[in-house]
Amino acid sequence: MKYDEALKKLSQYGQEHVLEYFDELSGEGKAALLQQIEQTDFSVLAKAAKGDKEQKRGVITPIPAMKLSEIAEKKEEYTNKGIGMIRAGKVGAVLLAGGMGTRLGSDNPKGMYNIGLTKDVYIFERLIRNLLDVVEQAGNYIHLFIMTSEKNHEKTVSFFKEKNFFGYDESYVTFFMQDMAPASDYSGKVYMETKGLMSASPNGNGGWFSSMKRAGVLDIVHKAGIEWLNIFAVDNVLQRIADPCFVGATAENHCAVGAKVIKKAAPDEKVGVMCLEDGRPSIVEYYELTKELMEAKDAAGEPAYNYGVILNYLFRVKDLEEIVGREMPLHIVEKKIPYMNEAGETVKPEKPNGYKYESLVLDMIHMLDSCLVYEVVREREFAPIKNPTGVDSVESARALLKQNGVEL
Ligand code: UTP
Repeated sequence: MKYDEALKKLSQYGQEHVLEYFDELSGEGKAALLQQIEQTDFSVLAKAAKGDKEQKRGVITPIPAMKLSEIAEKKEEYTNKGIGMIRAGKVGAVLLAGGMGTRLGSDNPKGMYNIGLTKDVYIFERLIRNLLDVVEQAGNYIHLFIMTSEKNHEKTVSFFKEKNFFGYDESYVTFFMQDMAPASDYSGKVYMETKGLMSASPNGNGGWFSSMKRAGVLDIVHKAGIEWLNIFAVDNVLQRIADPCFVGATAENHCAVGAKVIKKAAPDEKVGVMCLEDGRPSIVEYYELTKELMEAKDAAGEPAYNYGVILNYLFRVKDLEEIVGREMPLHIVEKKIPYMNEAGETVKPEKPNGYKYESLVLDMIHMLDSCLVYEVVREREFAPIKNPTGVDSVESARALLKQNGVEL
């Protein structure tokens, strides 16, 4: 893109300040900034300027869940079905590792965090170990796609290489980078990180499938004959990945997606809960759950919105291909964004100073027709690491790992 074209694009969105220091940049710096402008979608910023925070929700009603007792009755049937699908190469796994992990506060990718006490135990290692359990059970490898971002790609890839992929067969691992979105101040003006670089952040975990497509990784999915993708978060060190019983249950119930859920510990626990929204599967975030919804009961007298999602979903690829490219709701999140001050220095703020723009995977669920809500045992499958201490922390995850017999 040429300077004039860049200026024209910026002026459409009131972002001309991005070129303020253009003349001071080196030839390389100029080219890099023009490229960044070319690749950036500024339309998201207009939403902040309009104060367009969250989209309006539809009518929320309860969705039935497949409970532990029901799963136990059909465990063998579902597991056999799932193992068959894995052996036929129909199941792939996608590790969502493009996030910034700001709450944990480490400069490295979250998965490189060492949670060991007497030996090294990295988050990535725990996840690979969990997946290897299924590989051993099925007797064949499962293709693993790892989503990184521009911010952590190189470190993630070299870490896996240095650790020999923690014993996983490297030929079944594919890395791809997710897309970035600009970050702005509260009025919607994009921040500059340096004179030649706009502040940008990964565009949220909802961009995983479109990023996979753009990166050309979908060709591998097609060639390998993968029909289902199990996406999972980097920070839940206890979760079961490509769990044969879950895979079999989702397929046998002819659902477009399966969602692993846990029973809420308390009505006001801070997890998003599964529901129907205007008759389609959906998720209400904890901060959207009104008192009325929190107190609602189902026919059996149980809380009607009682199953929280843990970011472990099994998607049917053909259904994803139908929705890819459709516009997704945009979530405007207040965050700490590094920016350049008047002296030209990059500042890392202590407090939130603007917005990041993200699409979320939970919004994909609502775009699909059917979802199997599949209960798992919290103490066995849910140990998220979001913070260094306290709730959902390194400390709480260590305790849960020990409880499950994992040596640290
Ligand atoms: P979180 O919501 O915990 O966000 O991500 P985060 O950015 O990692 O952490 P904080 O909020 O800054 O502390 C849930 C999952 O989605 C992935 C994360 O890597 C994690 O597995 N994710 C999040 C992405 O892959 N890309 C994103 O843009 C955002």
